[in-house]
Parts: sequence; structure tokens; C-alpha cells
Amino acid sequence: MSTVEREPTAGLGFDLSSLEFWLERTPAQRDSAFATLRREQPISWWGPVQSLTLPPELLSGGYWALTRYDDIRRVSRDERTFCSGLGVMFFDAPPEMLEATTSFIAMDAPRHTKLRGLVSAAFTPRQIARLEERIAVHAREVVTQLLEHREGDFVQLCAKQVPMRMIAEMIGVSGEDDERLQQAAEMLVNLGDPEVYGDRNPLELAGESIWAISQMATALAEERAAHPTDDLMSALVHAEIDGERLSTAEIAAFFNLLAVAGNDTTRHSTSHAAKALDDNHDQRAYLVEDLEARLPDAVEEFVRWASPVTTFRRTATRDTEIGGQSIAAGEKVIMFYGSGNRDESAFEDPYRFDVRRSPNHHVGFGGGGVHYCLGASLARTQLRCVFRELLTQAPGLRLGEPVPMVSSVINGIKRMPFTLEA
Ligand code: HEM
Repeated sequence: MSTVEREPTAGLGFDLSSLEFWLERTPAQRDSAFATLRREQPISWWGPVQSLTLPPELLSGGYWALTRYDDIRRVSRDERTFCSGLGVMFFDAPPEMLEATTSFIAMDAPRHTKLRGLVSAAFTPRQIARLEERIAVHAREVVTQLLEHREGDFVQLCAKQVPMRMIAEMIGVSGEDDERLQQAAEMLVNLGDPEVYGDRNPLELAGESIWAISQMATALAEERAAHPTDDLMSALVHAEIDGERLSTAEIAAFFNLLAVAGNDTTRHSTSHAAKALDDNHDQRAYLVEDLEARLPDAVEEFVRWASPVTTFRRTATRDTEIGGQSIAAGEKVIMFYGSGNRDESAFEDPYRFDVRRSPNHHVGFGGGGVHYCLGASLARTQLRCVFRELLTQAPGLRLGEPVPMVSSVINGIKRMPFTLEA
């Protein structure tokens, strides 16, 4: 804990820690607040985050908000000075919940290195090729089904489908468990929104979802330990570095991390990108003209544009400074990725959606360093496959107004109506 007393930033007309900022402001109003911060106070101090549901002891302490691209990259790449082991979420959560869900994203070396290494070892080229094959099959199926509906909610019928199916595929569940897993993962990723938890306690609902996912992953891990097949779960159970293997609890925590990290991120990138292409028919036409060659660059722009992960946190391990601002040991540092991806000093015309942008070194998957998104290549493949199908099979796709999700962690779209023009 730092002992330095700091005064929260004031006089800018908004408070990053307030419920009002995240619950009531529109995405455009928040964008404008971050533009002000990048210009006037790129590193600013804010008081404890407010919450409707968390107990006060979990809301202690303020934090530094990092809004510029260069600062986000610098902090991401210096894991000794800015650690993850003291938490990575914007707001805190009960420790037992973090233990069961965050896995190695909230760990430092040497444990992070070991667990990430073991998981990476299971993602062999053969496993990746197999997953990629399945992604293409799911994408075709999902878009074919979308065409049968002709109108409805794009998020439910398309954007969420491929990531959800891939999580089930990776864990290895099928049948009834598939439905249970989908419900639990869906609940876990949408819990910031009062519309989702209604009159239930969100912490309780989160606990139930985590329990369901852990149970399924544990049962399958035990089954594959005894009777290995050639699937990813078998590879995870048997992956070994220096004679060490992942424990069943570590595998369960990893799948909880996947259910969050690999699920809504890809879903919301799909929704934001589909909307941007519908709002910019010139970009869409350019892409369709030479789809295979142009999709990879476009996918980078989809992720920059969507910036589905709003924030991750680090904690300073020693007294240091960022951009001339001194930071005391123990102080929290929050990286606002969406702001980094709209930084005028890193991107030309950053508020323009431009699938031609190249190079496009966005921080959508993180700012580099040891925690850089492990699923980036799988996410890119999912986006390529879904948009290949959408752009060829559904040229008449038209999207209505998106309903934004309420969250300080995920920049999401809850619902978005679609129609298919002939
Ligand atoms: C467009 C989709 C995605 C986005 C925008 C995204 C974004 C991110 C970000 C910002 C981080 C943190 C980076 C950091 O702290 O430096 C991260 C970490 C991670 N992501 Fe992703 N992600 C996506 C898809 C996926 C998928 C599909 C998977 C799994 C298959 C996945 C698995 C992970 C894991 C395991 C980590 C933790 C890595 C570590 O701590 O070593 N992500 N992701």
C-alpha cells in the first residue's frame, strides 16, 4: 500500500471513478472525456471506483489513469516495475473469486511464466490447425442460419455464436453441458449490467457461473487424464515443463479465464466491426474487391476500432515515474486501451474507421510484454472467418442502432437489430 496522499483530479466535468461516468454517459461522451485527458492530463489520479454492489472494503484506494498509447505500451512491457499479481481488474472482487477465475492473467513470474508456458505447450500447431478448421465450419453455419432469420438481434444470432461455440469446443463439452456452459459464460461476461442481474446479487450469480464452469472443466480434465484423446483438454492435462504439469484446479481456473477473455472480446469486435462496415459502405466495397488479401489488415482495424477490452490494471512495485509523473510503490495504474487506440499521436485520423490502415500497431490485444493476449491469433482467425462469410453470403446485411453494454471493463454491444435486404 502506498502512503502518499493524493487529491483526485477535478475541474474537468467528469469523474472516471463515478457510476455516472460508466452508467449514464454515452460512448461518444466518454470518448470525448478521454480525448480531454490525453490532451490536458494524460496521467491523472482518481479516487476509489464506485460500485453498486461491491462491499466498501473492496473499493479502497485510488489509481492513476493512463490514456496515451506510448504510456500504455511502456507499462505493459515493464512487468517488473508494473506487476499483475496484485490484481488486473479496474475494480476489485472477493479474493476467492479472483483465485478461481483470473488464472495466470493476474500472476507474475515465475508462476505466470510456468502456467502460460504449460498452456501454450498444449496449443500445438496441430491443436491450432484443428481449432481453425472448426472455426471455419462454425462461421459458415452461423451465417447460413442468420440468413434464414432475415431479421432479429445480430448479437444473439451471429456475433456471440462463434466465440461461444469455440469455448465449448476447447473445453470439450457437448450435449446438455454445452447449454449449461453457454449460460454460465454468458452470465459471467455480462454481470456489470444491472439489466442482466436484475434483483439478484451479481456476486452470487458470478459465483454460480464460476462453479458451473469449474465443475465441467474439472470433470473433463479428470476424464482425459485417465483416457486421453487427441483434443485440447487431453493436451492440457498432459502438457509438461521440467516435469511439472497443470493441476486440475489450475485447468479449471484457466477455463474460467477463457470463458471471459476469449468470449465477449471476440463477440463485441464482431458487432462493432459489422456496424462500422455498414456505416462505411466504401470500406466494405474496398474489402470485398479483394477479400482474402485485404481481410488481415481489416481485422486489425476491427480490433482497434472496437477496443473491446476497456481496462486492465497493474500495480507499481517500486517508486518510479511515467511521462514525468512520479508514481509511488503500491499505487494502482489503469491502462485505458480504447483511449490508447484513439491517440492522435499514434494514429492518423484515429476516429476514422479505415480498413486500409497499415501498419496498425493497436493496443487492443494489450501493449505487448509477457501478458500480451494469448488468444490473439485465434481471435483473428475467428474474425476473418466470420467476416469472410458475412461479406460473401450476406451482402444485404443492414444494422440498426446498437445498445451499448454498461461496463468499465468491456466495450460491448448488448443488442443490435439487423435486417437482410434483398
Ligand atoms: C478480439 C478478441 C480479443 C481481445 C481484444 C483480447 C484482448 C486481451 C487483452 C487486452 C489482454 C491483456 C493483455 C495485457 O495484459 O497485456 C488479453 C489477455 C489474454 N487473452 Fe485475450 N483478447 C481477445 C481474444 C482472446 C481469445 C479468443 C482467447 C483464448 C482463446 C484469449 C485469451 C487470453 C488469455 C489467456 C490472456 C492472458 C494472457 C497472460 O496473462 O499471459 N483472448 N487479451
